[in-house]
Amino acid sequence: MAGKDRPVMEEEAEYRRQLDLFTRSSTEKQIELVKLGEVLAGITNRDAFLDIGAGGGYLTIPLSQSFEKTVIVEPNGKQVDFLRRRCPEFTVHHDTWGNIDLGGTFFDFILCSHVLYYIDSDAWLPALEKMYGRLAPGGRIAVVLQSPIGEVAAFFNQFTRYDVDILGLWRDLYMRYGDDVVGVRYFLNEIWTESLEDMADIGLFLLIDRRFRACRDEIRRYIEANQRVPGGFRMMQDEILLSLRKPG
Ligand SMILES: C[S@@+](CC[C@H](N)C(=O)[O-])C[C@H]1O[C@@H](n2cnc3c(N)ncnc32)[C@H](O)[C@@H]1O
Repeated sequence: MAGKDRPVMEEEAEYRRQLDLFTRSSTEKQIELVKLGEVLAGITNRDAFLDIGAGGGYLTIPLSQSFEKTVIVEPNGKQVDFLRRRCPEFTVHHDTWGNIDLGGTFFDFILCSHVLYYIDSDAWLPALEKMYGRLAPGGRIAVVLQSPIGEVAAFFNQFTRYDVDILGLWRDLYMRYGDDVVGVRYFLNEIWTESLEDMADIGLFLLIDRRFRACRDEIRRYIEANQRVPGGFRMMQDEILLSLRKPG
C-alpha cells in the first residue's frame, strides 16, 4: 500500500452494511447521477470508464452503460468480491489508487466519488495528477466530496474537526491546470430515515472512524435535538463536484 493511503477499513462487512443503509436513505446517488450526467454530456468519445473507490457500484453500474469498457480500482475486498460477481464484464482491480499501476491505459471518464477522505490531503494533488495522466484527450475527471458547509458538516464539527479541505484542492487544481480545465458544481443530498437508530448508524458511517462508536448515545441526542422532522429524521448534505477536462 502506498505510504499516503490510509489503511483500508478493517471491518469491511459492517462498513458495507452502513454504506448500504446510507445509500437507501439518501437521494445522493440520484442527484449525483444527474450532476455527473452534465459532465458526461461534454464527452464525445465513450470508450473507457474508470471508477476509483466504486464501493457498492451504485454509480458505476448505471454510468457503465455509457461506455464500452468499465474498470474499477477498489481496496475493500468485500466490495471487490461483490462487484466481480455482480458485473463480471468489468475489470476490477483489488488495490488502492496510490498503489495501482494501470500501465498505458487511458480513460474517457474517471470518477472519484467520496473517496478522498480516505487519503491524506497532502496526497490529493498527486492523486489528481495521476488521474489526469490516465485521461484520454477530450476526457473528463469528476471528483465528488462533501462541502465544508451545511448540516452534515455541522454534525461533523460537533464530534470532530471537519478538515476536508475541498476549497484548498479547488485552488490547487486552478493553479496547476487553469480555469479552462477546472469546473465546479454544487448540489444538495437529503438523508432521511424513519428511525433514530438508522440515522445514528448513518452518523457513524459519515464520521468514518470507528472510535466514534463509543459516542453513539451522544450522537443519538444530537440527532434528536437537531435533525427531527415530522415522521422521521433528516440531514441535508451539501456536496461539491470538481471536474477537470483534457483538451482534445
Ligand atoms: C464512501 S465509499 C464511496 C463509494 C462510491 N464511490 C460512491 O460514491 O457511492 C468510499 C470507497 O472508497 C474506497 N477507498 C478507500 N480508500 C481508497 C483508496 N486509497 N483508493 C481507492 N479507493 C479507496 C473504499 O473502499 C470505498 O469503497
